[in-house]
Amino acid sequence: MRKPIIVGNWKMNNGLKKSNDFYDELSNLLNKTKVNIDYAIAPPTLSLVALIPENEDGLFIPLAVQNVHYEKNGAFTGEISVDMLEEWAIDYAIIGHSERRQYFNETNKIVNKKVKAILRKSDNITPILAFGETEEEYNQNKTMDVIQKQLSECLNGLSNFEAQDVVLAYEPIWAIGTGKTATPEEAQKVIKNVREMIGKMFNNKVANEIRIQYGGSVNPDNIKELMLQPDIDGALVGGASLDAKSFLKLITYNK
Ligand code: PGA
Repeated sequence: MRKPIIVGNWKMNNGLKKSNDFYDELSNLLNKTKVNIDYAIAPPTLSLVALIPENEDGLFIPLAVQNVHYEKNGAFTGEISVDMLEEWAIDYAIIGHSERRQYFNETNKIVNKKVKAILRKSDNITPILAFGETEEEYNQNKTMDVIQKQLSECLNGLSNFEAQDVVLAYEPIWAIGTGKTATPEEAQKVIKNVREMIGKMFNNKVANEIRIQYGGSVNPDNIKELMLQPDIDGALVGGASLDAKSFLKLITYNK
């Protein structure tokens, strides 16, 4: 059984003050509700500290980062390494988000190095590998070709053992931040194909065990229907994860 996983990607939103407020509000809300899936928040790095409990009675929110560098240390202005994250209790790292690819020129080759660095240098961090087609590619029916190339290059050189630890996040770029969600059936169809692709690239065990999220305008109103699809194991959520009440609804969609 694949355990569902919902991750909030805050992008460049919620500084220290707002993150503190989110933490307090979610702590209160979670006093009354139990969550029985995996979840995490990926805040801006500077806000991580606001989501860490002050003492052991405080709420422990599983944490993710939005990016990481593949080198251990050195002259890489503005970057953070896997080793540095190991000093914090970080559970996941989103890698290859379309905004990183579009605005920061991340290529499949760079994404591959980052995924490998996490899998090989960290004991605690799970990479969440984001991929997906542009609107133009979607309109030209190129979705599966684009994804095939992204996945074969981004997962290149991984062993079966390493691959099954990765979380995949299918995010059609035309659905990100646009309110245009892929229909649950549409997302299911692509993700089922992705699972078959993983079976061919690795083996059936990896294909059955790897968790695949959908991302792109997921919100409390559409999460349930998406999660009912047999191959969708979770969601990567931007806008609807910024507010504690909305995030709670997402991670308790099954209640
Ligand atoms: P969105 O973003 O939920 O705001 O569409 C999703 C993402 O970029 O991961």
